[in-house]
Amino acid sequence: MKRKMSSSPEIGSTSDGTLGALFDVFLSFRGPDTRTNFTYTLYYALLDKGIRVFIDKKGIGVGEEIGPEIFHAIDDSKICIPIFSKGYASSRWCLRELEHMMQCRKTNELEILPVFYDVEPSDVKLETRVYRDALTQHKKECGVETVQGWEDALKEVTKIKGWDAKNKGYGELAHLIARKVSVKLKVSSVYISDELVGMDESVNEIVDMLNVESKDIRIIGIWGMGGIGKTTLAKVVYSKLSTNFESHSFISDIREASKGFGLLNVQRQLISNIIGDVGVELSSIDHGMNMIKDQFCRMKVLIFLDDVDHASQLMALAAKKEWFGMGSRIVVTTRNKSVLCKFQSQFEHCLIYEAKELNNLAALRLFSKHAFRSDSPPNAFLSLSTEVITKTGGLPLAIEVIGSFLCGKTKEVVWQDTLEKMDHLLHEDVKEKLMLSYEKLDHPQKQIFLDIACFLSGKNKSYATYMWDDCGFFPEEGIDVLLLMSLVKIGEENTLWMHDQLKDLGKSIVHQEYYKDPRKGSRVWELGGPDIVQNRKGI
Ligand SMILES: *[C@@H]1O[C@H](CO)[C@@H](O)[C@H](O)[C@H]1NC(C)=O
Ligand SMILES: *[C@@H]1O[C@H](CO)[C@@H](O)[C@H](O)[C@H]1NC(C)=O
Ligand SMILES: *[C@@H]1O[C@H](CO)[C@@H](O)[C@H](O)[C@H]1NC(C)=O
Repeated sequence: MKRKMSSSPEIGSTSDGTLGALFDVFLSFRGPDTRTNFTYTLYYALLDKGIRVFIDKKGIGVGEEIGPEIFHAIDDSKICIPIFSKGYASSRWCLRELEHMMQCRKTNELEILPVFYDVEPSDVKLETRVYRDALTQHKKECGVETVQGWEDALKEVTKIKGWDAKNKGYGELAHLIARKVSVKLKVSSVYISDELVGMDESVNEIVDMLNVESKDIRIIGIWGMGGIGKTTLAKVVYSKLSTNFESHSFISDIREASKGFGLLNVQRQLISNIIGDVGVELSSIDHGMNMIKDQFCRMKVLIFLDDVDHASQLMALAAKKEWFGMGSRIVVTTRNKSVLCKFQSQFEHCLIYEAKELNNLAALRLFSKHAFRSDSPPNAFLSLSTEVITKTGGLPLAIEVIGSFLCGKTKEVVWQDTLEKMDHLLHEDVKEKLMLSYEKLDHPQKQIFLDIACFLSGKNKSYATYMWDDCGFFPEEGIDVLLLMSLVKIGEENTLWMHDQLKDLGKSIVHQEYYKDPRKGSRVWELGGPDIVQNRKGI
């Protein structure tokens, strides 16, 4: 699927668009001691959290000079983690790195988080022979002066509170460090575009529903049609709340990821994220379910499952409250409300938040950000912009797509053309996204959808139901499914209501059918005209 608006999932680029530091974390370690076990475990735990890590993969051989790129990498990092092992001080490269780090700490805002892997701080402070012997050796080869700098750095670094790796599994320690680092960097492992508009209210409502203070175990659904901004909303809530939990994970795009044998990978990803171990091997979905249950049941976790489209996915990832520790929260985004219904009985609280269209003010701001890179349109374009957003029906996806398309287009005639096109054509990117829901429907449901799109939106549901009954379309069930998929709503006095962009989708589908085979042309409608002709003979 094409993703226009979130095409740059890099983490850590600052909001003003500059790159900021190149790396978040620099790992300094002695290869032969820890590379294959602890350092790699830590490396992957950090990556899993979306943290950019510099690690010297080549491994600097003995006798080579430490390259300037290593120093640059330190300069370009925000946090350095020296991993002190028995052999650390025997490596001059490690000592040079450490010395450089300590200098940067004074001049820049570099933070250092030492790990005492299989040595004590007293060893590093040179109170024992472990490092002292190595330094005596260096003095012979590099001179007293050089080594003095290293000694100072070693003594200095022990004043910083670090981690003691003794009595801890690598996985656990790596996970603890990754979490600490992620809090320090305030990065969440999800990318959020800067152009968030009109979301505060929704975010607060969901945060209230989640009530992180309470000890019960909750599942919350964010439900709504495609393009309404469920995922963005979820990401904002996630980055706001994740630090309140022992461990957290945001799994994107589950619908896409679980095709074929993908669900097993999704389980693996979830487990790695939560327990901080990348080496998880699963033999089957059942195995994954057991593992989740066994590993998560004592942890307070926050799990976001984005774009779930089938109950089986929830079954495999979050079937019961017993799987999770006290205070855990599961948040699911979906187009299909039924997905959650099954789980209502399994959790103490299963609440559903319905994502809403943007109001005009927010829509105009979002549009302006994309079309003019500013909060409001220039005066000359105010009324054209208002017209455009009216036609998008407050659907964020459509606003972003059209706004980006119009960006830099200063000729009024282009705008007029676009407006005219919007009357009868759905933008391809929007269509693609909305099509996903339509394709899920069975044949009678599709017919009901198309009828509403073409001529029954705003009409009395009772009347339409008689007609569909006659056609053998099981209308009560069909409308239920459309309601659950957020494709249609029932308005006041039992009227059918459909979002404009969905109506356009329906019409374009009918158009296509017609051009493929005019004999099958199933519906004829006149835009806005009261006399609607319906012709079902072709069906
Ligand atoms: C870590 O790996 C290195 C190199 O493979 C090995 O020498 C060392 O004993 C390992 N450490 C532990 C605690 O297993
Ligand atoms: C909605 O989800 C339910 C439960 O997973 C499933 O049975 C149903 O087929 C889904 N509906 C659509 C239209 O995808
Ligand atoms: C729709 O039809 C029902 C039953 O025929 C009626 O009670 C209701 O008032 C009608 N609604 C409108 C908007 O006409």
